[in-house]
Amino acid sequence: MPIPRVTATVDLSAIRHNLRCVRALAPQSKVMAAIKADGYGHGAVPVARALADAGVDAFAVACLEEAVSLRDAGITTRIALLEGVLSRDEAVEAAGLSLEIVIHDRWQLELLASLPADQPLSVWFKLDSGMHRLGFPLAEAGSLLAASLAQPHWRLQGWITHLACADDLDSPMTAAQINAFKATMAYLPGPRSIANSAGLIAWPQARVDWVRPGLMLYGASPMPGQTGADLGLVPAMQVASRLIAVHEIKAGETVGYGATYTCPETMRVGVVAVGYADGVHRILPTGAPVLIHDTRAPIIGRVSMDMITVDLRRLPQAAVGDPVTLWGPGLPVEEVATWAGTLAYELFCGLTNRVHYRYRA
Ligand SMILES: Cc1ncc(COP(=O)(O)O)c(C=O)c1O
Repeated sequence: MPIPRVTATVDLSAIRHNLRCVRALAPQSKVMAAIKADGYGHGAVPVARALADAGVDAFAVACLEEAVSLRDAGITTRIALLEGVLSRDEAVEAAGLSLEIVIHDRWQLELLASLPADQPLSVWFKLDSGMHRLGFPLAEAGSLLAASLAQPHWRLQGWITHLACADDLDSPMTAAQINAFKATMAYLPGPRSIANSAGLIAWPQARVDWVRPGLMLYGASPMPGQTGADLGLVPAMQVASRLIAVHEIKAGETVGYGATYTCPETMRVGVVAVGYADGVHRILPTGAPVLIHDTRAPIIGRVSMDMITVDLRRLPQAAVGDPVTLWGPGLPVEEVATWAGTLAYELFCGLTNRVHYRYRA
């Protein structure tokens, strides 16, 4: 049996804990868990099974293909397609799998209205309250309701809007979006949904009939300057590799492609079997930490496709075979994301199919 080079260990009990945190914040709301992009890189099927066992109300995925793999794996929980369907064939398949189709644009409305009325169709309407990415103008909500009532086989599941700046407590935009959406909805029937993770955490008025957390379920924080643990969440993922070489490099010698790092003294340098082809961002600079035996060791030189090099001066005992954590307990993913100039979302989703996944119940 080959030893996996890079392992992502996913703790499903952490994901269930984080769902309980969502329920504690929004006890009156139903929870639609965002598990698109393969469960934010955690594995959509195992994550879905864990959340379904814990009583989640529905899942949100981006597209039909993602929903099909969940249904193929035996997931019977409600699933919404956040970007809706792209064609007639997709619409028919979605209906056959009892998927819930978000309608965000007039062309989708017309496409769905042109289908034969022989099958019930569950739909959500997406309204644009100010983000200006997807959704109908708020002013069209009344006519959308009329359009859905004209299709007796449609079941209107609710109304969705999405917040652009919920992670920014100083932005006036979130309150404006929430107020505009609520004002539009005041006279229309049907459940409402506003909050992603940041909306749920920071904006109590966004905790309405349905909440749609993604990132926080995986134990990471959408709020700048705060980790998931700061918010009472438990990070679900640890990504680790191992040292495959340890060298003593002389003062003045350089390390790695481009010779960007010069050893200031004769020093031990470790080579870790993980690189950008596994999902460690090449942009990570010299100084970004990894964790070896609970001690931070800085990356030195360039991240290459299959390897990184690390400064072992603080780890005189480190040896070939020792595990190296890229993020996980002791090294928050949010911190690594800051070093990479990005967000935890992108680190999670950037793991590649070379990474071996292991699940803890
Ligand atoms: C429409 C919609 N709702 C909910 C979410 C979940 O967001 P988050 O992961 O920030 O909680 C997303 C994610 O991008 C989304 O696009």
